[in-house]
Amino acid sequence: MVPELASRILITGGAGFIGAHTAKAVAECGFAPVVFDNLSSGHRDAVLWGDFVHGDIRDGEALAETLALYKPAAVIHFASLIEVGRSVTEPDLFYDHNVTGTATLLAAMREAKTPRLVFSSSAAVYGRQATTDPIAESAHKDPASPYGDTKLACERMIAAHCRAFGLVGVALRYFNAAGSDPQGRIGESHQPETHLIPLAIDAALGLGPPLTLFGIDFGTPDGSCLRDYVHVDDLAQAHVCALSLARPPGQFDVFNIGTGQGHSVLQVLRAVERATGRPVPHEIGARREGDPASLIAAPAKARAQLGWEAQQSGLDEIVRDAVLWRRAPRYGPAPQPAAANSRT
Ligand code: UFG
Repeated sequence: MVPELASRILITGGAGFIGAHTAKAVAECGFAPVVFDNLSSGHRDAVLWGDFVHGDIRDGEALAETLALYKPAAVIHFASLIEVGRSVTEPDLFYDHNVTGTATLLAAMREAKTPRLVFSSSAAVYGRQATTDPIAESAHKDPASPYGDTKLACERMIAAHCRAFGLVGVALRYFNAAGSDPQGRIGESHQPETHLIPLAIDAALGLGPPLTLFGIDFGTPDGSCLRDYVHVDDLAQAHVCALSLARPPGQFDVFNIGTGQGHSVLQVLRAVERATGRPVPHEIGARREGDPASLIAAPAKARAQLGWEAQQSGLDEIVRDAVLWRRAPRYGPAPQPAAANSRT
């Protein structure tokens, strides 16, 4: 059964970057989003669509109360820790938030008889691949970090719940989410920021230190890593498609959400220079541990079965919208000139 229009959709982690854009997409499609977030990294000011419940996914009682109150037709589950590097030094925390949190959510959904779960997974489940070819869903999985391990563990746990208890489950493996709402209402605000595009923009605008390129000796055409950048609004739309995917009870599906097109770190730098009209100050550094040379999605399954395809994920479009946000963020740390920036 797919959710009817006007149904409530519970969005855990809906105050975060991808979650907030998904709440917008869900609302624009005629559903009623309800955001459930503990605000540990999300922003209350990012919740512009639907109700807000302050809660933690490891709190089974809070989840039970929320599910009983709103009776959502589906849950979209983003709430998790995401910093790959931190997962190496604090794996206990990642297993607690990501795996125990998801187990707690699944138990609450089973009790409340919530029939559908859309899960926020990651290309991190693939880890290091021997090739720079696009990666299909069936590719070998060998996560390079505890973060990726927790996402794969959650996928398997959800699949088992689907088989055992008749849940419909859809996991979306995101490639590189980037860009922001083209109207500048919501955007990317991680603390600390570790992602290439916002750091390159800050360097160009004088709002952050010079960018360090994490290695230019990879086996790729220009030596820098290839990634599949997807506009966050395209990514958000994939969740709407997943809500409407007709599937019998008990089925679990996984889809790559990417464009099928890779861009190198150096190509991203050129795009930031085009969008800002300024050079990106940078230096060449060592490789970052765990960075695969290439992560590019094979998106054919999402196109064929989910009916999803990227619409606004040209690199210049992504960077244009990211620059708009970075110049005037509505929330998160205020941009500081580089001279006053503690990272310089
Ligand atoms: N990079 C730099 N300098 C920086 C930051 C990044 O050179 O200061 C490079 C990285 O080495 C990488 C590329 O830019 O080659 C993209 O890096 P990001 O940190 O922006 O993104 P990642 O590909 O590392 O991470 C993304 C998601 C993670 C996910 C991972 C694997 O953000 O959540 O893909 O799927 F785990």
